[in-house]
Order: sequence, then structure tokens, then C-alpha cells
Amino acid sequence: DWTMGAYKEEAIRIIREQVGDKQVICGLSGGVDSSVAAVLIHEAIGDQLTCVFVDHGLLRLNEADEVVTMFRDNYNIPLIHADESELFLGELDGVSDPETKRKIIGRLFIDVFQKYANQIEGAEFLAQGTLYPDVIESVSFSGGPSVTIKSHHNVGGLPEKMGLKLVEPLRELFKDEVRALGHELGLPASFIGRHPFPGPGLAIRCPGEITREKLEILRKADAVYIDQIRKHGLYDDIWQAFVAILPVRTVGVMGDGRTYDFACALRAVNSVDGMTADYYPFSHEFLGETATRIINEVKGINRVTYDITSKPPGTIEWE
Ligand code: XMP
Repeated sequence: DWTMGAYKEEAIRIIREQVGDKQVICGLSGGVDSSVAAVLIHEAIGDQLTCVFVDHGLLRLNEADEVVTMFRDNYNIPLIHADESELFLGELDGVSDPETKRKIIGRLFIDVFQKYANQIEGAEFLAQGTLYPDVIESVSFSGGPSVTIKSHHNVGGLPEKMGLKLVEPLRELFKDEVRALGHELGLPASFIGRHPFPGPGLAIRCPGEITREKLEILRKADAVYIDQIRKHGLYDDIWQAFVAILPVRTVGVMGDGRTYDFACALRAVNSVDGMTADYYPFSHEFLGETATRIINEVKGINRVTYDITSKPPGTIEWE
């Protein structure tokens, strides 16, 4: 794409001009936006960029390893892997209220990010993968009456608090343009096309108390579900898909024994911007096969349900 090629060159020129010979910190979530921002900035200023990847212990199966391998080994981008899962899971222990969970995660995220960022000597800039719709939303929502449905997890206010200037090379782009830029930068298509994943991670897919046991079961069930979706060639047709583990055990029968295990819910939606969404119309064959696979392959789950709520009135995530 020649326009994206030109955009990339211009963006690199602007980053170099803004940053000079100073150090830049970038918070990496593993999502498309922050990844594209990091690779672009690295192409512009090389090792003046250090990425901080906060691992809150609420990531999907193998996700932390994949992020670290891709950025540190494939792109040679200096990366701090802040494995703080003990801290996050410790503070979340026994907490079941959804807003309390989000607030705990948001607060710890900022503390942890700041702690690691302070170790990077001479940092003057903080890079963020802010997109154009984020810019618009924060402007049009400010001042007006607002109803907070869910506290969103972001690092707002952090740059001022840390005395850092912002580098936001994606500010003029929409999501599809960020994907095109990622492609231009050589990021793998499988990575660019990934479904969105929320900042609070699996915490909001585990209604009720979060335990290590439930997280482990959830990771396995989610991996089987996504594998099924890929095998049926549906991944790119769906905007977002995931499993939620329910805070209830139900009775089942397997072989000649009784089971008493967790129930889970499959979620899949189509959406343009996440503001509204329709549940995805899987075939009964697909749903039946997936339920059988999850129950056979994931110890700890003996019942699978499919969430057919659209947004509104439901939200995409369960919390
Ligand atoms: P809901 O559940 O509000 O989600 O319908 C809409 C979209 O936003 C994602 N989401 C989040 N993303 N931080 C994020 O970065 C968050 O705190 C957060 N909460 C929800 C959700 O995955 C869906 O794509």
C-alpha cells in the first residue's frame, strides 16, 4: 500500500524530530495498537526505545511468552517483562465485585508501570498507541453528563504524574489503518488480525472470585474454543470471541461417574467499534462439537453454554 508506506516514512521523520536523542518508554499490552506503535517507534529511534510489558497474571495461555519472544527476540526491542502476577492475584484474592476488580487492576497497573519506568534512566517520553477514535471519544465525552458503565483501564494522567511527554504516532489513524501500518512494518498477519483483548484481561471473564484454579481452567477452555473457531475458518469473520468461566459448579455424568465441575459460557460477537454488538450465529454442529471438545479436553468443566445476548442490553465482556 503506497499511502501507508508514505505515512510510515512521515511518521518516522516526526518521531525522530520530536524525540531527538532522548529515551522513550512504551507500555506494551500485546494488543495491536501498542505493538504497532512500538515497532514504528523502534524503527525510528532504535534502542532509545524501551518497552515495559506488565504481566498481571490475567493473560491467556502462552500469551506472555509470545509477546516477549516476538518483541525481544524477533524485533530486538529492549523489553522489560514485569511479571507481577503474584502482586495482582494477591490483591484480587477474595474480591468478587466487578468495579472493585477493575479499580484494583487499574491502580496496580499504574504503580507497577511507574516502578519499572523509573528504572529507565533519562526517559523523557511515554509512547502510547492512542487511535483517532480514542481522541474523539475523550473529547466528546468530556464535560457532558456521563454514566460510567465500566471503569476503563488506561494510563490516563500517568504522563503528567511522571513528568513525561507523550509520543502518539497513531493519533490520526483508525483501527483498519493501524492494521495496514502494522502490515507495512512487517508484523505477521496472524498478529495484526487478533481479536481485541481487554486491559483487565481474564479478570472480567471470571465473574465472582478469581482463583488460580479457575484461571487455569479458563485458559484451557478458551484455547480449545479459539482453536475450534480457527479450524472452522471463522476467526476473521468474528470481531471477538472468548470463554467466561461461571462462578457455579453443576452436576454432570461422565463414564459411570458423577462430576461436579464448573460451567462456562462461550461468547462470540460481531461489532464495528465495540459500542454495539450482535451475537455470532454459530451452527448447532459447531456449538455441539465445541462443547464436546471442551468437556473432554478441559478438566474442571462439565457444562458449556452459549451466550446469545447482543449489546445492548448485554455488554461484550461479562463484567
Ligand atoms: P464491553 O464489555 O464494555 O466491551 O461491551 C467493549 C469492548 O471493550 C473491551 N474492553 C476493554 N478494553 N480496557 C480495554 O482496553 C478495558 O477495561 C475494557 N473493558 C472492556 C472489550 O473486550 C470489548 O472489546
